[in-house]
Formats: sequence, structure tokens, C-alpha cells
Amino acid sequence: MKVGVVGLGTMGAGIAQLCVEAGLATVGREVTPELGQKARGQIEHFLTRKVDKGQLEASARDEALLQLVTTTELDDLAGCDVVIEAIVEELGPKQELFAELDRICRPDAALATNTSALSVTEIAAASSHPERVVGMHFFNPAPLMPLVEIVRAERTEDAPYETVYALGKRLGKHPIRCQDTPGFVVNRVLIPLLNDCIRILDEARVTPEDLDAGLKHGAGWPMGPCELVDLVGIDVHVQASEALWGALRETRMAPPPRLVAMHKAGLLGRKSGRGFYRY
Ligand code: 3HC
Repeated sequence: MKVGVVGLGTMGAGIAQLCVEAGLATVGREVTPELGQKARGQIEHFLTRKVDKGQLEASARDEALLQLVTTTELDDLAGCDVVIEAIVEELGPKQELFAELDRICRPDAALATNTSALSVTEIAAASSHPERVVGMHFFNPAPLMPLVEIVRAERTEDAPYETVYALGKRLGKHPIRCQDTPGFVVNRVLIPLLNDCIRILDEARVTPEDLDAGLKHGAGWPMGPCELVDLVGIDVHVQASEALWGALRETRMAPPPRLVAMHKAGLLGRKSGRGFYRY
């Protein structure tokens, strides 16, 4: 099986890493060769850490890296069986991409989107074959989080849906099946919950450190909400909140003003070196 990954940011690079670790020929597309190289460097770094920790043979790392081809040309995805989109979380660019992929990819290829909170049905509507578009929603960090949500849009047909479900298993994930509703399963619960946590920072006049300690030590979370929003990215979280707020009009979905201000100020969390914490 040959897999394409479009967009090699944090999520796309993590997904490409899973594909090459599973032994799949993988074509990763970025807009510049430098961004492609950066993603390859990130994948090499994490695979080498696994070698250092005795979780992977050095030869397996080298073989995995040979499976990855990076390109700036969408046309290089022509031979893929499945293409996974992980570009910017905005409807317009995703719709444009799916219209292009529809032209480029084989008629029997499945097209998947890693959108967090946009409508898969709306993304698929831009393609002339919406029946082969499926949601494949990974969690951050994709190589470590076991879950993947396999989302059936209004017009998704069985064959591409099952292809993408089987790919989730092949990547070593725990896939779950769901329909295309705002936030699917996990983000429908997690986004308003994280928004509540951020509002409590100001209401209870608690520090990010204490709030994180509260949820870790009082509720068994693996990391606190401020650490988690920093990991996900303030920009990604604000965009996902806005999408859910737009779709559901529930107040708890709307991004808290504090996060909107951080987004505007370029405090995006880990990836920008500063969010609630400094990195
Ligand atoms: N590939 C391989 N290894 C990786 C990696 C990657 N891409 N990224 C990090 N790692 C490794 C690191 O190398 C590190 O090991 P090292 O320090 O020895 O190098 C290791 O993973 C992480 O080490 P930690 O000690 O921090 O690991 P933990 O045991 O604390 O687990 C965690 C980390 C799995 C991230 C855990 O803290 C956790 O489960 N956090 C919650 C994450 C979560 O909830 N994610 C979902 C966010 S919501 C989302 O994504 C939805 C979206 O739509 C917004």
C-alpha cells in the first residue's frame, strides 16, 4: 500500500512517521523543500530516540526513513492508495486541495482528512467524488496517542471507509467509527472542557501551574489543561473552538478571550516557544 500525506506540520509529520514505521511507502507533500526536510528531520529525531531507548532496531529506523519521499508536487500523489490531508485547519484551502486531489488521484483511491472540527461533508462537497472522502482524525502527538476517529460523512461509501479504517489498524491505532457531527466524539467533549479550564484560570485566580496540578493530581489527567493546550497549539485550539461554536452555538464552545488574545499575540504554545509556559 502507498500512502500520501499532504501537509507535514506537527500532525502530518507524526502521521507520516506512523506510515513509514508500518513499512508503507509514503509520499509527504509540503509547499517548500525546506519544510519537507524539516519534517524528515523531526521523524528521524523521534525514530532515533526510539533506537536510543531500545524500542527500535537501528536498521528498522533506516528502512523506515527510506520509505519516505518528500515532494512539493501534488501530482506525485497520483499512485497513492490513500491520501491523508493534514494542512491548515480552514475550510477554503481544504476544499481547494480535495478538488485537486480528486483530479490527480486514481478513481479507487480513498481521500482522508485529519480535520479536528470542520465538517468532513463540507470538505468532501468540493470534490466531484465525495463518496470516497473519509475523516481520519488523529490525536496529538500522533505517534503516541492510540486513538484515531474514522468519520463517515453524508456521502461516504463503504469501500473507502473500510480502507481507511483498515489503515488505522495497520498503523497500530485503535480506530473508532463515528458519523460526521461537529467535533466528532472526543473534541465534542474535550474542547468545551478545556475552554472551561481556561476560564477558571481567571475566575478562580489560579496559576497555570496550580490548575495543571489540580487536574493531574485531582482527576488523573496525564498532563494538565494548560500544558495540553500548549501541546495542541493555541491557534489549533482557537480554530477548533470557533468551528464548534459556529456549528453548535453553545457558549462553552466559544474560545475564551484569554486564548484569543494569546493567539493574536503569537503565543501559540510549544511550537512558538511560548504559551502558558516557556519552552
Ligand atoms: N514520535 C515518537 N516519540 C515521540 C514523539 C513522536 N512524534 N513525540 C514525543 N515522543 C517521545 C519523546 O521522545 C519522549 O521521549 P524522550 O523524552 O525519552 O525523548 C516521549 O515521547 C514523551 O515522554 P514523556 O515522558 O513526556 O511521555 P509521557 O509518558 O508523559 O506521555 C503523552 C506523553 C503521551 C503526550 C501524555 O502526556 C499524554 O497522553 N498527554 C495527553 C495528550 C492528549 O490528550 N492529546 C490529545 C490532544 S487533543 C487533540 O489532539 C485533538 C486535536 O484535534 C486538537
